[in-house]
Amino acid sequence: MTVSITGKTKVYGLLGYPVAHTFSPPLHNAAFQATHTEAVYLPFAVHPDDLKTAIEGIRSLQIAGVNVTVPHKVKVLPYLDEITPTAKRVGAVNTIRNDQGKLTGTNTDGLGLIRSLAALSFSPKNQTILILGAGGSTRSILVALAEAQAKQIFLVNRTMAKAQQLVEEFSPIFPETEIQAEVCSNLFHLPIDLLLNTTSVGMKNEESPVDLTQFQTLHHVADIIYSPQQTALLKQAEQLKIPFINGIGMLLYQGCEAFEFWTNQRAPVALMEKQLLALLQ
Ligand code: ATR
Repeated sequence: MTVSITGKTKVYGLLGYPVAHTFSPPLHNAAFQATHTEAVYLPFAVHPDDLKTAIEGIRSLQIAGVNVTVPHKVKVLPYLDEITPTAKRVGAVNTIRNDQGKLTGTNTDGLGLIRSLAALSFSPKNQTILILGAGGSTRSILVALAEAQAKQIFLVNRTMAKAQQLVEEFSPIFPETEIQAEVCSNLFHLPIDLLLNTTSVGMKNEESPVDLTQFQTLHHVADIIYSPQQTALLKQAEQLKIPFINGIGMLLYQGCEAFEFWTNQRAPVALMEKQLLALLQ
């Protein structure tokens, strides 16, 4: 890839620690090139102790926008001028836009997941969804599914108290969606429209976190893990002929959403997907 940098080139980047293994620079640079946007995207390894000065640096260096990743997604909030309602609810920011020194933070992870579900022709409205997990990723997904008017969300987690905490926090905010912490075996007999794994179980080729044969009616399965591309959970879904997706779509569309938040133009989705799939080879 050849990028010609001029005095007008806008700078975007990623704040994280570490950042060496990120896919975001090739993904966004390909998107800028394809849309003839005069911009570059760079990795910035920011030590946790330096987060505040790094954010001040965005203003002083007039960096146009950044993504934010581990470990800064929560700690960055107090340093921003405005936070979108979604990011406020999630309590974490993964994208910041700089409008002439005014920094607005948003969170595109949950919307990324929702957009990826279109591959299953699945829309969360009025659906019953079982989420495995109650960690950081679960928060952004739970908020997005409730904002998309899911009817019922069951949270199943190894540590039940963490699922219960999410219920207590989000039930009052989303009265239209019934959010419950449950033991998985209590759900086997219920019709589930989507079972979604947000735990890290499967990243190291472990066994599936749940046995899908136990469910009487299960319409779709999604895993947010993208490497490996087919976890044991998804292999079982395939055997049972249940339509499924892995986490590549969520990764892709959270990036597309960030691109659109920064540039106000449609992301070149097909190109970004091609780029991402090549990187994941
Ligand atoms: P992330 O930010 O990626 O969501 P996290 O906040 O550490 O990461 O959450 C990891 C999730 O995977 C949690 O729901 C965790 O369950 P606990 O809350 O009980 O820790 C779940 N998880 C991780 N390892 C697990 C395992 N071996 N079995 C079951 N659940 C596991």
